[in-house]
Amino acid sequence: MMNSKPQEGLLSVRNLSKIFYSGIINREKTVGAKNVSFDLEPGKIISLIGESGSGKTTVGKLILKLLQPTEGEIYFRGQDITNLTSKKEKKRYYSKVQGVFQDPFSSFNSLFRVDRIFNMIFRIFMPEVGKSEQEDRILEAIREVNLTPDLLEKYPHQLSGGQLQRLLIARALLLDVDVLIADELISMLDASTRMGVLNLLLDICQEKGMAILFITHDLNLGYYLSDTTLIMYEGRLVERGGTRKIYENPVHPYTKMLFESVPGVEERWDRDEDFVPEEIDKIVREFYDNHEGQGFSEVEEAHHVLFSEQKID
Ligand SMILES: Nc1ncnc2c1ncn2[C@@H]1O[C@H](COP(=O)(O)OP(=O)(O)OP(=O)(O)O)[C@@H](O)[C@H]1O
Ligand SMILES: [Mg+2]
Repeated sequence: MMNSKPQEGLLSVRNLSKIFYSGIINREKTVGAKNVSFDLEPGKIISLIGESGSGKTTVGKLILKLLQPTEGEIYFRGQDITNLTSKKEKKRYYSKVQGVFQDPFSSFNSLFRVDRIFNMIFRIFMPEVGKSEQEDRILEAIREVNLTPDLLEKYPHQLSGGQLQRLLIARALLLDVDVLIADELISMLDASTRMGVLNLLLDICQEKGMAILFITHDLNLGYYLSDTTLIMYEGRLVERGGTRKIYENPVHPYTKMLFESVPGVEERWDRDEDFVPEEIDKIVREFYDNHEGQGFSEVEEAHHVLFSEQKID
C-alpha cells in the first residue's frame, strides 16, 4: 500500500513525528510519535493498536490538526495539509475529516440542545442548504445511526455515552466526511451497544466509502473490523500490514508479545519464545541491535516491520 505516492491517496501520513517538550530549564523530551507513515483508503478501516502511551491518540490528533507535527507531512487528496493555517482552509479540511473520541461528553457543547448542535453544522459548513432540506438530512442521519428523533430535543447530559457517540457518527454522516478518526470509540459502551456501533461503522465504511482510522487496545476488535493493521510501540509504528498477515505472522517482538498476552487467542500462533511483558523493552532493544541498519522493511507483500530503530534527532 505504501507504493502509492501520497499525492494519489485519500489521506497519507509520511514520517510523521511529534516530540513533546516539557520543563523550562531541563527540557524533557517525550516521543509522542516518531516516523509514522501509512495511507488511509476509501471504504477501508485501518486499526491502530498499541498499549497505553504508545502514541495512538497523538497520531489521531496530528491528523485532525489538533497538534502540529515536529516533522513529517500529512497529505489529503494529494494536497500537503501539514501547515494549514487559514481558517477557510481548515474549515474545508474539517468538512471532510472528523474525529470521534473516547469521551463523547467533551465533544458537545453542553449548553446547547442536540438540534441546535446539528443546525450549527449547516451554518458553519453548509450555509447554502435550505431549512427544510437541513431538517430532512438531520433526520436521515439520526435514523442511519439507529437513534430516534426525540433525542434532538435533549441536552447532551441527558443522553448516554453510546447515544452521544452515535450522534458524533451522525455528525460525520451529515458532513459526508471522507475520513473518520475513531479513538477508542466504543470502549465505554456495554457489549450490546458495542456491536451496534461497530456494525454501523462497517456499514458506513462500505456504503459511503468512508475511510476510518480505528484506534483501539483491543486486538479482537481490530481483527473483526479492519483490512489493515498498524501496531505502535513507544511512538513508532513497529508493524504495518494486512490484518490477516500481521495476526497470523507477527514478526516484531512487541507484536508477538501483544498476541501472546491475549487470552484465548494465543493458541493460533506458534510460540517460539516465552515473553514476559516486563522484559519486552529489553527484548525489543536486542531485536533492534541484531538487525542494525535494516530500518522499516518489507517481510512479505504489504507487511512491514521495524527491524531497527531510527535514531531520534
Ligand atoms: N500534550 C502532551 N504533552 C506532553 N506529553 C504528551 C502530550 N500528549 C501525549 N503525551 C505523551 O505522549 C505519549 C503518547 O501519548 P498518547 O496519548 O498518544 O498515547 P495513547 O497510545 O493514545 O495512549 P492511551 O491508550 O492511554 O490513550 C505519552 O508518553 C504521553 O504521555
Ligand atoms: Mg489515547
